[in-house]
Amino acid sequence: MSIFRDDILAGKTALITGGGTGICKGIALRFAAHGANVAITSRKQQNLDTAADEIGFATNKKILAIAADVRKPEEVENVVAKTVETFGGIDILVSGAAGNFPVPISQLSYNGFRTVVDIDLQGTFNVSKACFPHLLAAAEKHRNANVICISATLQYTGIPFQSHVSAAKAGIDAFMRTMATEWGPMGIRANCVAPGPIGDTEGMRRLAPTPELTERAMKHVPLKRFGTIEEIADACLFLVSDAARYTTGTIHVVDGGQWLFSPGVGGFEL
Ligand code: COA
Repeated sequence: MSIFRDDILAGKTALITGGGTGICKGIALRFAAHGANVAITSRKQQNLDTAADEIGFATNKKILAIAADVRKPEEVENVVAKTVETFGGIDILVSGAAGNFPVPISQLSYNGFRTVVDIDLQGTFNVSKACFPHLLAAAEKHRNANVICISATLQYTGIPFQSHVSAAKAGIDAFMRTMATEWGPMGIRANCVAPGPIGDTEGMRRLAPTPELTERAMKHVPLKRFGTIEEIADACLFLVSDAARYTTGTIHVVDGGQWLFSPGVGGFEL
């Protein structure tokens, strides 16, 4: 069920990195269900093919699924070229490909830190740069061209074992703000969506892997539950739609109020 009209993205094309699984697959499904042509990419072709079949079956649309590692500019350029060849352009980019594993700084290898920063931050730069000419062409035709970067909230405070992801996501927020100012005059918007704890995702399976940790994590969410993939997809749908045509350079936090809450020195519970 969606509160948005089902044709609000009709005729638009969206490229979604990380679209083979989890939150970004949910975004791909939401966009296709609202009329967009959708291309998804991630490293594993098998995940992509399964996602494309699932989304195609649910929406009756042909989903383009091409494997690429966002760390490799030539692979990113290939995906962008094939998307344009298939659908005639790109109006919307969602940069969501990400990696995460909880590890203390003292145990994190040089390569481990670099790997996450490369996937999340360098990957966001790579795909944004490769899409730029096509976003510009869309903007020149007044097609509400825009970019959404999938960020996070853990970089707002100090969360143990997440140094690599915090650094990468803080970089993404900063990169998005620059993109919004540089590309705004050309008619291209850029925003971040920052999911908090979202159920049924690889991220939460890694960060809260046991029922006890899940229960403890939920206690610290003012809205007293984890979010859903659909709730993130709806935030993205709003931001790419004409309803948000004056919204750029923002970070749209969707976390049930989670990052704001601290038990403080008194150890208060919600
Ligand atoms: N703890 C500590 N270090 C780890 C680790 C873990 N759980 N997982 C990977 N690393 C380190 C590796 O040891 C390696 O460093 P080294 O060469 O010094 O040993 C480095 O990170 C790269 O790992 P590798 O597996 O070779 O990289 P990759 O590019 O194939 O994998 C990851 C990417 C690391 C992000 C992997 O965790 C992954 O694919 N995750 C799935 C996606 C995901 O995380 N989704 C959640 C998004 S929120």
